[in-house]
Amino acid sequence: MKGLILSGGKGTRLRPFTYTGTKQLVPVANKPVLFYAIEDLVEAGITEIGIIVSPETGEQVKAAVGDGARFGARIEYITQDAPKGIAHGIKIAQTFVGADKFILFLGDNFIRDGIVPQVNAFRDGAMHAQIILYKLDDPSSMGVAILDDAGRVTRLVEKPKQFVSPYGVIGIYMFDPHVFEAVNSIKPSARGELEITDTIQYLIDRKLNVRAHLLTGGWIDTGKMSDILEANRLVLDVLGARNDGQVDSASIIEGRVVLQSGAVIVNSTIRGPVIIGERTRIENAFVGPYTSIYHDCLVQNCEIENSVVLEQSAITGAPARIADSLIGRNTEIARAGGRTRTIKLMIGDYSKVGI
Ligand code: DAU
Repeated sequence: MKGLILSGGKGTRLRPFTYTGTKQLVPVANKPVLFYAIEDLVEAGITEIGIIVSPETGEQVKAAVGDGARFGARIEYITQDAPKGIAHGIKIAQTFVGADKFILFLGDNFIRDGIVPQVNAFRDGAMHAQIILYKLDDPSSMGVAILDDAGRVTRLVEKPKQFVSPYGVIGIYMFDPHVFEAVNSIKPSARGELEITDTIQYLIDRKLNVRAHLLTGGWIDTGKMSDILEANRLVLDVLGARNDGQVDSASIIEGRVVLQSGAVIVNSTIRGPVIIGERTRIENAFVGPYTSIYHDCLVQNCEIENSVVLEQSAITGAPARIADSLIGRNTEIARAGGRTRTIKLMIGDYSKVGI
């Protein structure tokens, strides 16, 4: 069996981060979200992996992931000339997949407990396709599955405007080569994309054996900021403590804290679960639970909790505790000089600031 990860697309919902960085490389507990997908596939015994990239973000993805050796995998890149839909991604991967069964993993989907049982069931079973459902109060931002009384999928609707079912279809799909007939037959939707939901509907309509597995563990589509913070909390909750950095005698480390190599803590309190990245310096600061500070950052004279800070950023003072925040790469947050009741901002397009 092979793996196919989709890491192209536009990523407009995570602006402004996706202007300069690929959304699938946004870190969750200091590891790009895409790496979790690769590791989930490898854990399920799938080491031949194709990654679909866009012309704009392909080089960044290749630089971060490499040839796959560090994951114990062999990775091949396939460039999609434009984001023409998830099913278009399958279409252009036909040569890579060949006659094998394969797992399609959307590169921004995060699943807490991996995919081993589902992959094993698919590998050993007689299914033509397997989808994974997640029960939600409002799955209207996803593909949604309608089931019959026996629990079989009868219909799929992409982002329904009205409530049709509580079962969202998560971005991990399993197919045999019948799917190529589907992606080569369906037509683009009203939004101009070859839809994955239409692809699966095609298989159902032809009475092929399409099964649905209902997921009970954690799943997150990391497309929005609140989702990144939630995925970050899920991973930090199970991360074991580790110290590859340095802590001075004036600092207090409480709970499960990971200090990556070269991290330096000076006169600060770190209350886990927290991860501090490589070469990052924390000085005269409080870093509270569920915070991930990535590599090469400086956090000084401030308090921060339940937040994710991307690489090479400097927070050198804040009049109040920073909380529930996603702070981009190469950013600077500092106390403004001069009049005390002013706020000085230089923030990019599509940013959101809560004061
Ligand atoms: O997260 C699950 C949902 O993913 C499903 O429930 C929906 O049925 C499915 O359409 C998809 O919806 P999204 O709106 O979340 O898809 P998005 O455009 O964010 O694309 C998902 C991933 O696939 C993302 O990592 C980018 C990549 N992609 C997307 C398109 C449209 C590509 O690589 N190429 C593409 O052409």
